Amino acid sequence: MPGHKGRSFLGCEPYDLTEVFGADVLSQATGIIGESEANATALFDTAHTFYSTEGSTLAIMTMLSLAVMTSGEKRPVILAARNAHKAFLYAAAWLDFEILWLMPKEQEHLCSLTVTANDVEKALTSSHKRVAAVYLTSPDYLGAVTDLSAIASVTKAHGIPLLVDNAHGAYLKFTDPDRHPITLGATACCDSAHKTLPVLTGGAYLHIAKDAPREYIENARMVMASFASTSPSYLILGSLDLANRYLAETFFDKFSALMPNSDKFRQRLLALGFSLYGDEPLKITVDAASIGTTGEALSAFLRSHGIECEFADRRYLVMMLSTETTAEELTRTAEVFTEAALKLRREGASEQNPPTLALLPSAMTPRQAMLSPSETVPIAEALGRIAHSPTVSCPPAIPIAVSGEVITEQAIRLFEYYGITTVAVVKA
Ligand SMILES: Cc1ncc(COP(=O)(O)O)c(C=O)c1O
Repeated sequence: MPGHKGRSFLGCEPYDLTEVFGADVLSQATGIIGESEANATALFDTAHTFYSTEGSTLAIMTMLSLAVMTSGEKRPVILAARNAHKAFLYAAAWLDFEILWLMPKEQEHLCSLTVTANDVEKALTSSHKRVAAVYLTSPDYLGAVTDLSAIASVTKAHGIPLLVDNAHGAYLKFTDPDRHPITLGATACCDSAHKTLPVLTGGAYLHIAKDAPREYIENARMVMASFASTSPSYLILGSLDLANRYLAETFFDKFSALMPNSDKFRQRLLALGFSLYGDEPLKITVDAASIGTTGEALSAFLRSHGIECEFADRRYLVMMLSTETTAEELTRTAEVFTEAALKLRREGASEQNPPTLALLPSAMTPRQAMLSPSETVPIAEALGRIAHSPTVSCPPAIPIAVSGEVITEQAIRLFEYYGITTVAVVKA
């Protein structure tokens, strides 16, 4: 193995090793992979940083398994913000934990809900069941960053772990100030290195904090291996390894050079009348309603000029920068926005707010729903049916109806808003 024998088909095959002598084994990592993880561990200042070649998705499954294993409870409760990526929902189904949701406030976008230390404190003290862990997504899909340090003070006072989906914020460790979840007090977090660092798609980290329960560090590798392929990509491992040097030597200077250009870009958008949302440095989220258009129309306009954004819905358009984004690319994008503002501006158009999502009634656990036979129905016929698998558009892969929940009128209005036409439901 591998069958390509190092000959070029795609071109990358000569680098695509397998567990040959000297190449180490990710699920044991006592050789060069172990050394490379040790470098990442030192860079992120964690108890251990584990490599994932299967994205944050694998790291999320692993950290939730660790929380379940150490809870000492048969069906532990996880307090989670509702803007969770579907990886969290799959974990809920397969690990069979109970979810206590922190829901969006009035007019908040499904992708971006503000969770404060006060919200977490209130939820923990008012829950009649013991909460085993708190699970938050920060930065969120629209670029809002949660005050994790205040929330970590609350979870520490309650003696429970804080788990963070930091898929979008690997780089936050290397900015000034350091805003990485582990620095701010999280017990464990995932980072999709591939989203914001020069790492091949699939490359991610699972970070365990120095003050995490001992069992987290002892069991993480075994748990991760139990969900992962026994053939991790050495291309991705090599890419994660190279990223260590980039983070140690190159990232900060490139980031410092990018920031004035991205500020200039933001200023140009503001001068054109666009409002911006969020405070994550590498995400630029444009509120298309501010010029009376939609995120989708803006996105189509950019695409017709050779620019692909990360995500667009009726209201917002999200762009992701990285330290590999050039000043020329930002200047060119600003020019296209200038044209877009001329062509798409509409006076007095109504705001494109999504309907607010209230807690849907639950008829089954996520596990019961996911293990039931399913069928796909048009949303017009979905009222009162039980959601089977998380119904989401990808991106952002944030479910409107979670497996086991009953689909209400309001959920149907949200499906319509996000352009979802069919939904998987439990077979009647
Ligand atoms: C917030 C969030 N969490 C988790 C994931 C999963 O990350 P990955 O694709 O690295 O598995 C994504 C992917 O888009 C995401 O946006």
